[in-house]
Amino acid sequence: MYDFDSIVNRNTPDDIKYEQIKGINDLIPMWVADMDFKSPPEVIDELVRVASNGIYGYSEADKSYDEAVINWFGKRFDWNVTSDQIIKLPGVVLAISYAIRVLTNENDHVMIFEPVYGPFRRCVEGNDRKLTVEELKIVNGHFEINFEEMERKIIEDNVKLLIWCSPHNPGGRVWSEKELRSVSDICKKHGVFIVSDEIHADLTLYGKKHIPMAKIAGDDCVVLTAPTKTFNIAGIQAANIISGNRAVLRRIDREAVTTGAFGLNKMGIAATRAAYIYGEPWLNELLSYIEGNIDLLREELKDTGLVMMEPEGTYLVWIDASAYPDLAERLLKEAHVRVSEGSFFGSCGNNFIRLNVACPRSILKEALQRIRAIL
Ligand SMILES: Cc1ncc(COP(=O)(O)O)c(C=O)c1O
Repeated sequence: MYDFDSIVNRNTPDDIKYEQIKGINDLIPMWVADMDFKSPPEVIDELVRVASNGIYGYSEADKSYDEAVINWFGKRFDWNVTSDQIIKLPGVVLAISYAIRVLTNENDHVMIFEPVYGPFRRCVEGNDRKLTVEELKIVNGHFEINFEEMERKIIEDNVKLLIWCSPHNPGGRVWSEKELRSVSDICKKHGVFIVSDEIHADLTLYGKKHIPMAKIAGDDCVVLTAPTKTFNIAGIQAANIISGNRAVLRRIDREAVTTGAFGLNKMGIAATRAAYIYGEPWLNELLSYIEGNIDLLREELKDTGLVMMEPEGTYLVWIDASAYPDLAERLLKEAHVRVSEGSFFGSCGNNFIRLNVACPRSILKEALQRIRAIL
């Protein structure tokens, strides 16, 4: 019913994904994590309605906004959230940074599991905290956690905070209840607070179900959510930070206000509310389309020496490219396909690339032909 096949020209000078590269005029960008699909029609209509009014004054989300958020998380994750458990911020990375600042002191240790979305590391280091890096292990073709090693490092470094990515970018893991419980139990045992980045929560595939960390860890965590990946509105910058721990929420909110981040802008409020109220049918079709793209990718990578990690969520695919040194660079130069270099996710990602498959299938086919041609 919805159209994910049309090729939309988004090639504007301010578009990061389509950033011009000298000498390349037929670039296929499969790196930055946004999609080449138009947002749900109701989101577009709402943004047009707000834009066409012509007045863009200061705004504050009202009760109808909170209701849309609460209903979404209740319906999709069976998670009871109340208005006083939500704060709004213009971005998940911003929330990570605020959480680090209010929950730890300079030189405290913060744990991350690598490979992981690069800004996790940057937020810890940039705020003068120390990193404790635990590497995810590839077991049976997907990422798993070595819980003993995790606990040992927490004790050794006296870790205060864990920044957790669920579902996982770049590995596409949708963590099981058992895994979440083990992470939570270890953290509780050693007084480690959890910041759970769940920006990819809505993007689960092949019947996998995401469980919010708050349903497991209760008030010992904050959950960072956003409609931005789900509905392709990342440029609008909106996030909802949810926790039953009102004391922690208050401290994050105070840090936000102190640094001039007053909730969401007019477009963020409008787009988020419309997406959560009307976007579900669109999302369900999007997920089937992404599964179709991943199925195609799997087929085309067979026998190439590129080993794909089966994603359970996200539209991002982690690929072992050890057989092809400097593959990301070669793909850009020789195939005009831009992928994310694995090193962005930590040094253990050095021999990997990450491919964003959220594009019309015809584009994916073309990209895969070009990739195969240079292997
Ligand atoms: C795990 C994760 N967290 C956060 C972000 C970015 O969030 P925001 O744009 O809200 O700061 C991304 C974007 O790719 C991501 O993958």
